[in-house]
Amino acid sequence: MDMSRKILTALVAVATFSSASFAASVSQEEYDAIAERIKPVGDVYLAGSEPIVAAVPSGPRDGATIYGTFCTACHATGVSGAPISGSADDWSPRIAQGRDILNNHAINGFNAMPAKGACMDCSDDEIIAAIDHMIEGL
Ligand code: HEC
Repeated sequence: MDMSRKILTALVAVATFSSASFAASVSQEEYDAIAERIKPVGDVYLAGSEPIVAAVPSGPRDGATIYGTFCTACHATGVSGAPISGSADDWSPRIAQGRDILNNHAINGFNAMPAKGACMDCSDDEIIAAIDHMIEGL
């Protein structure tokens, strides 16, 4: 129970106690019937205290995001001979193999290039978008 629901519960408790004098003038049966009629239906949430629904993934991440999270560690500086992002010299011979091979090597791994750059929850499309980002404008 969060703070605002505690406050709400406290307010309901106060309202219940202050109705004790009223209760004295009506029978228990009537009182119960009234209580039943006025009880809140379902859960009551104060504005801003609605339950937080688990964030739903909002679709594929873009190439820059994937690159910045998973590829930059090796591809920014050329770790283990990784082709450097944005370098025409590094990428030209690789691009010349054809895009299918390039994509396949990135998705399935190739020598020191780990499969999907070790991004296990990346989709193939997200990996391809990251490659696009690295070779953009070449
Ligand atoms: C642990 C370091 C490392 C990470 C992380 C990494 N790479 Fe690589 N990558 C390499 C290395 C090393 C090579 C060169 C492999 C070779 O040619 O033998 C390479 C090569 C590549 C190639 C060229 C393959 C070819 O056929 O020439 C692509 C495309 C690529 N990486 C994409 C990515 C993408 C996309 C990511 C992020 C999702 C990524 N890499 C993350 C190390 C890494």
